[in-house]
Amino acid sequence: MKKLIKNGTIVTSTNEYSADIYIEDGIIKEIGKDLDIKADEIIDAEGKLIFPGGVDEHVHYGSFGARLFETTDAAAVGGTTTIVDFAPQDKDVSLIDSIKRQAAKAENIACVDYAFHGIIMDPKDSVFEEIPQLSEIGVASLKLFMAYKGTNFYSDDESILKAMMIAKKHGITMMVHAENADIISVLQKKYLEEGCTDPIYHYYSRPPIAEEEATKRAIALAKSVDCPLYVVHVSVAEAMEAIREAYEEGWPIYGETCTHYLTLNTDYLAKPNFEGAKYVCAPPLRPQRHLDALWDAVQKGWIQAVGSDHCAVEGGFEAKKRGIGDFTKIPNGCPGVQDRLALLWTNGVCKGKITRQKFIELFSTKPAKIVGLYPQKGEIAVGSDADIIIFDPYFEGMISNKESLHGIDYSPFEGFKIKGKPEQVFLRGERIAKNGKFVGERGKGRWQKCKPYAFCYDYYRGE
Ligand code: URP
Ligand code: ZN
Ligand code: ZN
Ligand code: ZN
Repeated sequence: MKKLIKNGTIVTSTNEYSADIYIEDGIIKEIGKDLDIKADEIIDAEGKLIFPGGVDEHVHYGSFGARLFETTDAAAVGGTTTIVDFAPQDKDVSLIDSIKRQAAKAENIACVDYAFHGIIMDPKDSVFEEIPQLSEIGVASLKLFMAYKGTNFYSDDESILKAMMIAKKHGITMMVHAENADIISVLQKKYLEEGCTDPIYHYYSRPPIAEEEATKRAIALAKSVDCPLYVVHVSVAEAMEAIREAYEEGWPIYGETCTHYLTLNTDYLAKPNFEGAKYVCAPPLRPQRHLDALWDAVQKGWIQAVGSDHCAVEGGFEAKKRGIGDFTKIPNGCPGVQDRLALLWTNGVCKGKITRQKFIELFSTKPAKIVGLYPQKGEIAVGSDADIIIFDPYFEGMISNKESLHGIDYSPFEGFKIKGKPEQVFLRGERIAKNGKFVGERGKGRWQKCKPYAFCYDYYRGE
């Protein structure tokens, strides 16, 4: 199929201009004014903005009790054409085999393209020895957890250092979940003993200082072995400041935040009738001053990308109710893959907090660079995949779970006013969404292989 998108305004992370886009075999073949090329379909995008498809480099499908890849149509309608899932390491299964198992769950099911980060859940030498082979299966990043003590997610500092030393040698980007596990387990116990069981104690037992401390420690570990570091889901101003400081000193230390840390504060966790449980994720939602600091940070480039940390816990609110009487039993995670674009655009661009260029950078271009998928993904340029959003900036509406395809019974953003919508979304040239409906073919998403020595390693090339 040959397609020609005419008269739109192309918005990239560096500029915007009006031009036509010619697509053939799923690739952008030409960009230019008044292209006169024969096509099977001509799409008029007059008055519309054209964005590169979103790259959400932080999603969970299947792990943490989340729904699986059949719900990735939610990504498509929300303008995200590539998701990067955290593949959990299964018990007594090698790192590589665990990732292959996770990939098999997406194959012929996923509605958008997908790639993977590894997660080490069995931090021992034989597992670290697999790190050099990650790039052979198209994985170029690895997450370790400083939180969740007493579970097999947890890695101590020694394990993190060992992993860092090997990862650095092989161009694998190290990611950490930075929260001090001991602070959390001691405070959880204390609050439960005091009879404080409501969802808001999820926040009180994971205070900002727990994230600040772990972030600073992760930075110290990274500096000590001179390893690039990407701190995922930064939610605390002081943690962001620590990343910023290290970066400004010249270290390859970067951070990501997530949509909900920019748009939801702790008031939501404090909602009565156990409603707060709907907003339980880790790190927890923070008081407003952190949200303000994070908006400032994303515009100024101190935080590199905005992921959704999409984690639609199977069973929705009912599943969350497992934590009635004990907030530590509330399953962590909130859905968000469908709303990342709308929330960033409405609350960022429309409110003057970020420019359109910064929006594209945070939503699509930088995430693609960070995971090693650029310029195939995250860009509107000749030779890139034709992952394209035709965006109607004049639309005004509201987020409602009725229109959410994430497969659970609530949206954390219910009733949020939104401006603009992805009117049409194309994945490698094929139309997959139109006005909030998935119109693509299920299972057409493909595993995208990430290249090692991505973004974070620019530092070593002196770029
Ligand atoms: O609450 C969340 N985010 N669940 C997923 C796990 C994680 O740490 O990213
Ligand atoms: Zn995490
Ligand atoms: Zn996550
Ligand atoms: Zn319209």
